[in-house]
Amino acid sequence: MSALHRAGATRPSDFQRIAHRGASAECPENTLVAFRRAMELGASMIECDLQLTADGHVVVFHDWTLERTTDGTGTVRDQPLSMLRSLDAGSWKDPRYAGERVPTLEEALDATAGRVGLNLELKSRRTEGLLALSALRIVEQHAALDRVIFSSFDPRLLERLRDASPDARIAVLWAHAPFDDALRIAVELGAEALHPPDRGTDAALVREARARGLSTNVWTVNSLDRMLELVGLGVAGVISDHPGRLLEARARLLGS
Ligand code: G3P
Ligand code: MG
Repeated sequence: MSALHRAGATRPSDFQRIAHRGASAECPENTLVAFRRAMELGASMIECDLQLTADGHVVVFHDWTLERTTDGTGTVRDQPLSMLRSLDAGSWKDPRYAGERVPTLEEALDATAGRVGLNLELKSRRTEGLLALSALRIVEQHAALDRVIFSSFDPRLLERLRDASPDARIAVLWAHAPFDDALRIAVELGAEALHPPDRGTDAALVREARARGLSTNVWTVNSLDRMLELVGLGVAGVISDHPGRLLEARARLLGS
């Protein structure tokens, strides 16, 4: 992939359509049914959140605790995989999703192989980097390094990842302006992208990122008008709970 491509210098309609936690507006977030639906709706990439279990497995899960999106209680990192796998991760969204399980990273890779990229967000409160190294190993075992972009709000995890692999594709995830530190860290890490929030992303930020060879993928954008506006600013990707709207934005760009 050329530096220009990485910096988002593609046709606007080629922007990455990134489904946030899968098709999470419609389906239970971070489950395989949400990933399958995102692919049906034309996503080119799926963002999902990763955490370590108590026994060292990597699972796809957003919150630190189980209550909101499963029928379990307690913190994710204190549970073994077997306990997490026994939970219902679908019914909270709608009874028709009863029986959806908390996926492992391996399952997420298998379910999306040959179809879409993955943005793996490392959600560790532990800073020793074990999550980063475990996720990297699994991605390498699946020969999926090319279609995975790792991101994290914690640059220390990204540093561990970079130390372990010169080839890992990295995005610096940032919560709010100012973005000077994010841009500096991204360059130091040899990252390919900045993932800024919708609020705070403007033409100047996209330009500053591009000047450093970085593409910009913005989260989390659910308005069609704002998707079109961001693509007009030159972002490389848009992260949304509504992948169908991203496809609609693409159709509008192709039609205009
Ligand atoms: O990766 C973008 C976005 O997912 C970051 O925030 O809390 O939705 O994981 P969060
Ligand atoms: Mg996330």
